[in-house]
Amino acid sequence: MITMHIYKINGGKPLNGFIEADGAKNAALPIIAASILTDEVCLLGNIPQLKDVENMIAIAKHIGSNCSGDNANCLIRIETSKIVNSEINYNLAGKLRASFLFAGAMLAVNGYVKIAMPGGCDIGLRPIDLHLKGFSLMGAAVVKDGGFVTLEAPDGLCGAEIYLDFPSVGATENIMIAATAANGTTTIKNAAAEPEIVDLANFLCEMGAEITGAGSDNIEIKGRNKMHGTIYNIVPDRIEAGTYMAAAGAAGGDVTIKKVNPVHLEPVTLKLREAGIYVEEGIDYVRVVSGGRGSILPIDIRTLPYPGFPTDMQAQMAAFLTQASGTSLITETIFENRFQYVGELNRLGAVIKLNERTAVVSGTDKKENVFLTGTAVEATDLRGGAALVIAALSAKGETCVSNVEFIERGYRDITGKLSSLGADIISYGNC
Ligand code: EPZ
Repeated sequence: MITMHIYKINGGKPLNGFIEADGAKNAALPIIAASILTDEVCLLGNIPQLKDVENMIAIAKHIGSNCSGDNANCLIRIETSKIVNSEINYNLAGKLRASFLFAGAMLAVNGYVKIAMPGGCDIGLRPIDLHLKGFSLMGAAVVKDGGFVTLEAPDGLCGAEIYLDFPSVGATENIMIAATAANGTTTIKNAAAEPEIVDLANFLCEMGAEITGAGSDNIEIKGRNKMHGTIYNIVPDRIEAGTYMAAAGAAGGDVTIKKVNPVHLEPVTLKLREAGIYVEEGIDYVRVVSGGRGSILPIDIRTLPYPGFPTDMQAQMAAFLTQASGTSLITETIFENRFQYVGELNRLGAVIKLNERTAVVSGTDKKENVFLTGTAVEATDLRGGAALVIAALSAKGETCVSNVEFIERGYRDITGKLSSLGADIISYGNC
């Protein structure tokens, strides 16, 4: 990836102060897709200003939505009075994996869509077989050809019982969206239970859908309700907030992150406490107090579907645990290629070895891992890039992080937020 700009970070400074979490990227994306289910106006609030959101809006506009935004207030207005395009090319769909969530929405509202297979971060194969299994069980004709998926249901969809072989977040969302238009009831067994699934279900219910069980592994959707416009604020971003919690843990200091839902952060909070970090939970904030390097205990982490430890926090915790006073094990069970950032962390002086799906993270007790030392590193993906920033904050000297476009897909103003906490970080044109 050719980087347009880089981050320059001088590490070794503690983080202190207050920041606010933005709205959840992974709630905003499915809700934008679902907004086309009605020809009335949807007003979405707490929408993060991110490239991925822009790319989803571009697809909605291509389909026929009239979209306008008020960036300062994180508001988006979407009105899809009619569908003008039923084909979504790779130029639009290839920019992010969540583009495929328009498949379920278009099946529901249009009975036909031809959509390019999704793109996204290179963290694994990321198949869509479970999405297609659900659509097929609901009566859609599914054709995969030449990099496109064509879905047709000229006579509409029928309610079905759908077992997900893996609790896929995207498949659960896509099927739930499509099922709002199906004749009869659809049950999703072994459904994903992430907070973003619950947020999507709440949004769909606000539009008139009848959905029960969201947040459990058994979701029921009664279809064929008229879907109407609504006003909806999305949930805070638990992964953005968790990232700043890990940064404060690694760099040391006293950081409060406001506008969060602490319940959604529980796996991260509990693991940071296991590592000896003080975490205070308020109604809508979390506070992290850390002595940084030398006061962090080694821990073992295993990523699992929610409410297990989130895979989207795996890389950030690896960076944090390079500062622990012993060896930690991190096992990634969700994606098969989510350790690409390890090579870059090791270039900063970390000592991380990979054993299939487990990263063995040596801590500061190992003589060869005295201090991380700043150097030039490249972001490999969104969360791996955030891990490099966390490591750079703890490293001695200057670190240049390139390919920051990856990072900015999921973190709005990360340099501004970290600077406000005392970090020495600037965003720099091509150097
Ligand atoms: C969502 O991706 C998130 N993205 C990801 O966040 C997150 O890591 C992931 O859920 C897991 O929590 C958005 O919400 C936009 P999956 P998604 O379908 O839906 C298997 C980030 O950093 N699978 O739960 O693609 C496959 O093995 C991003 O913000 C199938 O086998 O995740 C996959 O590896 C990265 N067949 C695993 O499930 C399918 O049809 C998890 O995928 C679908 C999935």
